[in-house]
Amino acid sequence: MATPAYHSQSAVRNARPLAQAAQLDLLSTAWSTPHFEREEPGTFALSFSPLLVRKLIQSYSRPGDTVLDCFLGSGTTYAEALWMGRRAIGVDCNPALIADLRDRLGHAPDTLHCEDARHLTDLLGSESVDLVVTQPPYGHTHAFSKNLPADLSLLSSRDFLAAIEGVAAELYTVLKPDGYCVILIGDIKDRGRTMPLGFQLVHRFLSRGFSVVNLYDARTPVSQLPAPLHAGEYLMIFQKKQKAPKRPAKTY
Ligand SMILES: C[S@@+](CC[C@H](N)C(=O)[O-])C[C@H]1O[C@@H](n2cnc3c(N)ncnc32)[C@H](O)[C@@H]1O
Repeated sequence: MATPAYHSQSAVRNARPLAQAAQLDLLSTAWSTPHFEREEPGTFALSFSPLLVRKLIQSYSRPGDTVLDCFLGSGTTYAEALWMGRRAIGVDCNPALIADLRDRLGHAPDTLHCEDARHLTDLLGSESVDLVVTQPPYGHTHAFSKNLPADLSLLSSRDFLAAIEGVAAELYTVLKPDGYCVILIGDIKDRGRTMPLGFQLVHRFLSRGFSVVNLYDARTPVSQLPAPLHAGEYLMIFQKKQKAPKRPAKTY
């Protein structure tokens, strides 16, 4: 089935609310990779709930849109995006995870990249992505590799946050205007003290130009989120809002 020709021009976004578009998606689902087996939650450390990812993709993108996960892990976002008729792009610094997903897909799509999420612009170019749904390591709470130089899970909390700010800057550049960026992250314990990574991450994203659309935590009722969040975990919806035109200076 041909990809619908309504990539995300702002005019189209404004004309029809995304929540309504999501309803339409459900009725006219065009699975692009019918042979790919869906992930079950809990098979990979800190993995996404597929149900949650599906809801996010439905709510914040349309069929044919480009969805990026720059901390791919086991590939939950990538797989769900493909299933939902989006163009999926996956990036992870760990070559073993890329190879594993390629094995499970049964082929090697050119949209899976072994790269550092701090170098997205070189890889994808500016304003090329409609939606980001991603989950960075939660600081050093779980090491995703032994010694990969780009692995953020091996950094101290301070270096981790500096790196996350770099990722935020890259995400802002690769997103199209009005595009959404969804991040799942959790607070951690660092030498006996709570390190509020969630709050600190919001601060970094704001300083790189993002606006906050919504913030969810473990208190969010299940009627709003299909999968409950753990205590200390935050789901953040950011948007790359187009800047309002400057008001002309008053002339007297
Ligand atoms: C929390 S896991 C993502 C889990 C994923 N949401 C899932 O459903 O499986 C974080 C991932 O970030 C990757 N990672 C760490 N540092 C990275 C970096 N600088 N660039 C890209 N990926 C990185 C790790 O290899 C790991 O796979």
